[in-house]
Amino acid sequence: MARATARIDLGAVQRNCARLKEEVGVDVELCAVVKADGYGHGGTSCADAALEGGATRLAVATAAEAELIGRALPHIPLLTMGALTPDELDSALGAGSEIAAWREGFLGLVAERARAWGRPARVHVKHDSGMGRLGNRDPSRVIAIARACAANEHLELAGIWTHFATADEPDSNFFDEQLERFSVVAEAVRREFPEVMVHAANSAAVLRDRRSHFDMVRCGVAIYGLDPFQRDPAERDLTPALSLHSYVADVKRFAAGDSAGYGRTWRAPADTKVAVLPLGYGDGVRRGLSNNAEVLIRGRRHPLVGTISMDNVTIDLGAETDVEPGDEAVLIGPQGDDAILAEEMASRLGTINYEVTCGISSRVPRVST
Ligand SMILES: Cc1ncc(COP(=O)(O)O)c(C=O)c1O
Repeated sequence: MARATARIDLGAVQRNCARLKEEVGVDVELCAVVKADGYGHGGTSCADAALEGGATRLAVATAAEAELIGRALPHIPLLTMGALTPDELDSALGAGSEIAAWREGFLGLVAERARAWGRPARVHVKHDSGMGRLGNRDPSRVIAIARACAANEHLELAGIWTHFATADEPDSNFFDEQLERFSVVAEAVRREFPEVMVHAANSAAVLRDRRSHFDMVRCGVAIYGLDPFQRDPAERDLTPALSLHSYVADVKRFAAGDSAGYGRTWRAPADTKVAVLPLGYGDGVRRGLSNNAEVLIRGRRHPLVGTISMDNVTIDLGAETDVEPGDEAVLIGPQGDDAILAEEMASRLGTINYEVTCGISSRVPRVST
């Protein structure tokens, strides 16, 4: 019995990576994306499991994440994908991370700091092929930056890369447009620098189109067993790694008309019993799930009723329930023959599975199984 626990099935992370590695084949490297504390699953433990499953590289978004992962796994190639301030650049280089660059000015700064560190920095030059976020939009400048990088004694041209905006939208042909634009730039760079590593695909792209695989794929969501297309992960042979557990702290009788929670947003339509689970939006169980979620207890679904508080939620058990204080409650994950997927919770909230697992707060201990 525990107030709130996120159980992380590291075997599932390992199997999902093996599944993705099978998809891309032996010639393509799998880079496991473990930013945002491994999408809320625990960054370093999931990185370990991903490596067991066939990943050979890791990626994070921030310098602080690079420090954490770089310290834990110093011999594994690591890429910091995000924008970095000068101080953050120093931290990322100090952690031994490879760096993303797309502007000449920043490349100069990377060279200067690499000289100070006494070892060349490995740089991945980013093409913005249509995401409209980080990266350089001008193909000729991307090629020029790659050349400048290769020519600088303090830098090594490690990669040329991009990121897709609509890989998870099967009907979008913008994906093909981006792929086409990037392929032209990547091939031009590769002709001059045959050793450069070309990479573009996220999880959705890996499962959608082999042409996007190039030399390496960067998978996040799928390694955690979350479906990049927001469907049931089982359809793509992915196993969810995270489940969210609590317990029934109290069961009380409600007469018809009695209300539960702030604002009295739910009133018992008939005599019933209500369970209290001692977790809430302070744990990342979003308030948008008020009167809009189900919870598994004794292998059966029960509606979450009333407004979600910071530390408590209430569940309508029905009048004839056998549920007792101390029973386990599952908010995400399997129990008995049923399961509540992060994708289901995301759909109720009008969001994506990524946000559901990233949103489980640090108040919830992650327990590896
Ligand atoms: C640049 C970049 N590459 C790869 C990924 C991994 O994407 P996914 O989790 O969809 O596999 C992300 C995640 O958002 C990203 O920002």
